[in-house]
Amino acid sequence: MTAPTSQQPPAAPLQVVDLFAGPGGLDVAARDLKVPVFTGIEWDADACKTRVAAKLPTTPGDVRHYKPADFPTANVLAGGPPCQTYTVAGGGAGRRALEEVLSLAKRMAAREDVTEHLENLDDERTGLVLEPLRWALAAIDEGRPYKAIVLEQVPAVLPVWEVVGEALDDEGYSVAYEVLHTEEYGVPQTRRRAILIARLRTGTGEVVAAMPKATHRRYRKGVPRTEGDPNLLPWVRMGDVLDRQEPFVVVSNYGTGGDPKARGLRTSAEPSATVTGKISRNRVVKPDGTELSPSRITIREAGLLQTFPADHPWSGNGIAQQIGNAIPPRLAAHVLAAALDLTDDVLAGAIAAGDGSTTAELISPHP
Ligand SMILES: C[S@@+](CC[C@H](N)C(=O)[O-])C[C@H]1O[C@@H](n2cnc3c(N)ncnc32)[C@H](O)[C@@H]1O
Repeated sequence: MTAPTSQQPPAAPLQVVDLFAGPGGLDVAARDLKVPVFTGIEWDADACKTRVAAKLPTTPGDVRHYKPADFPTANVLAGGPPCQTYTVAGGGAGRRALEEVLSLAKRMAAREDVTEHLENLDDERTGLVLEPLRWALAAIDEGRPYKAIVLEQVPAVLPVWEVVGEALDDEGYSVAYEVLHTEEYGVPQTRRRAILIARLRTGTGEVVAAMPKATHRRYRKGVPRTEGDPNLLPWVRMGDVLDRQEPFVVVSNYGTGGDPKARGLRTSAEPSATVTGKISRNRVVKPDGTELSPSRITIREAGLLQTFPADHPWSGNGIAQQIGNAIPPRLAAHVLAAALDLTDDVLAGAIAAGDGSTTAELISPHP
């Protein structure tokens, strides 16, 4: 007679469904981490063209028209909803939208059907930030909760992640949320993003969600990159990742604090300012202010500053906007690795696959 075995059935392989998948910032990271993406749902035809050219699995369409049961093998949920209505910096519309969304999130968590309210918000994009919560709750109610959830948005959305986090905590998840600084993860760019990581608590072993640990120092204007915590690497400079052969300065199209004369400046020995869809409006000059060619940040360069691979096949129209919308793959790799409890070796392998900045740093002409 064979002895009864107490062995658990093997865990299902990880598989991601990515909502609002854009040109694939998160999916490129998942690919480098060797975590399959089942699909990325995206409605913009141009972003879909880029995804298809990059061979990223894609479901073209509106996230609101799908549900977890449409992708039953996916057990990891990721989402970077559009952020436009919250980036109305400090404006009344943004604040009003936020208060409304917080109240709707609580009602959704109590299983109230708020579909009609979401459809009738002043700006329909506002409610999209709650789509990942709808998916997470639906999967729980179907008895197949996602093992891990990763969300990304602009810092103004952190209060929404707090309410979403409380709801997920009540449903059996360990949750962490925080605003992360991309340059602290080796991205040659300063950009702040509100990240939420949720991990399903299981019967066996302790599961604790935590933000990824910083690998690089935080950038502070005027503070040398060699100063600071000796256990961290210096932040990565634009000059480390761009092919330009001489030092340069990027002059922002916008004036700091609304003063058009006080334009932001970043030298090639600093990280880039936040890459947005308007990056090509910035001028690139020599340190003495004289002309340099190319005189603008090119599409390829914008992709590199976001840590996309140099050969990411940008396609369709509005490419600068596609790039500016994305989560930098390098940050996404750190966040996914933390959410999925992947080993440091797997993360290191993904980073090595993703870019060559460590080598570039050694040969950079930019002091
Ligand atoms: C902030 S971007 C996300 C980028 C993506 N996480 C990445 O890393 O590349 C938001 C994306 O959501 C898409 N989007 C907006 N509303 C949508 C909807 N209802 N259904 C599907 N995609 C939508 C936009 O076209 C945009 O590409």
